[in-house]
Amino acid sequence: MNRSKIAGIGYYVPERVVTNDDLTKVMDTTDEWIQERTGIRERRYGKKHEETTTTMAAAAARIACERAGIQPQEIDFIVFATLSPDYYFPGCGVLLQRELGITSQEAGALDIRNQCSGFVYALSIADQFVKTGMYKNVLVVGSEMHSMGLDFSTRGRNVTVIFGDGAGAVVVQPSDDPNRGILTTKLHSNGTYAEKLAFINPGAHGGYHKQHMDEQVDFGYPPTDTYGEIFITPKMISEGNYYPNMEGQFVFKMAVSKFPEVIHEALKEQGLEASDINMLIPHQANLRISQFVQKTLRLRDDQVWNNIQKYGNTTAASVPIALCEAWEAGKVKDGDLVCLAAFGSGFTWASALIRW
Ligand code: UT7
Repeated sequence: MNRSKIAGIGYYVPERVVTNDDLTKVMDTTDEWIQERTGIRERRYGKKHEETTTTMAAAAARIACERAGIQPQEIDFIVFATLSPDYYFPGCGVLLQRELGITSQEAGALDIRNQCSGFVYALSIADQFVKTGMYKNVLVVGSEMHSMGLDFSTRGRNVTVIFGDGAGAVVVQPSDDPNRGILTTKLHSNGTYAEKLAFINPGAHGGYHKQHMDEQVDFGYPPTDTYGEIFITPKMISEGNYYPNMEGQFVFKMAVSKFPEVIHEALKEQGLEASDINMLIPHQANLRISQFVQKTLRLRDDQVWNNIQKYGNTTAASVPIALCEAWEAGKVKDGDLVCLAAFGSGFTWASALIRW
């Protein structure tokens, strides 16, 4: 079997910078609270009505294609990870295909709904397709336009202050060198805690999962048996039950245990140690989580890339944005061992080891 490699990488973040102080003007929060609890100083928001998850993805993808030495028309498969798609359906994969002008080739497109671990899952899918020889140029994208779907009142402050917009993309191709490229990917999930970090409405659940939800949380189930009110009800709208919901401390505790576990799993399979990692790119969920993982793995500061301070948590985009930044800064070099790792809603978590 072939090995696959990341042949080109790019990222895009919108121009508009939103500082913590900007958020204090619309909700009861402080720069001090946000920095102390998350490490975030600022984040980017896309230009409403002009930028979308798809357009940001296209900007990142164009850079990735150029660096891979291919035209977008040469892409033969797209894997798109996002939790903030332009439409409920169809997915952003086909919208990106159209945006990049590659409709003539009718390349396949697939959307991944794995939230924070979405990019690592997407990379793993691309790896399987390229390794088996099915495709030669797979475009893998993580992109999020969170700013369109957050609660900018004090009620939503525990979630809203964390998230930002942006996109990252890579082109996965067969590797000429059998010792270089994607060494392994590890993917896991546990749906037991699906509602602990979720964007529940609009959805077709019709109240079915109520037994899994915190008694205190009313997600606005349909008050009647009327069909057609299943996705979004007047009650949901009047009560504002259409925003993401997170039990932060619970998620935090799971994250700090699953990150090291899935990294060790990949290293062990490859006969490697944490000390062999040249650059760890953790999903940028919270600086305190990344620092905890760094300490657990006994890594030096120069072995871990953090950029949550500037961009907040960009969910599926966070890993490729951070990887691209590290690469552009010359911190990811040929022959380096790069580890990607992510944990988030689902819960889903994943890691990838790459010999660059
Ligand atoms: O990327 C997907 C995976 N996500 C994660 O991994 C996130 C994991 N969790 C976290 O990062 C943290 O739990 C948060 C940053 C979300 C929250 O930090 P925390 O230290 O766990 O705070 P908390 O939720 O326990 O809240 C502490 C207090 C509460 O007030 P009381 O009840 O102590 O009076 C909150 O109401 O902080 C309050 N609070 C805020 N205060 C000011 C919550 N959000 C804010 C805010 N500004 N934005």
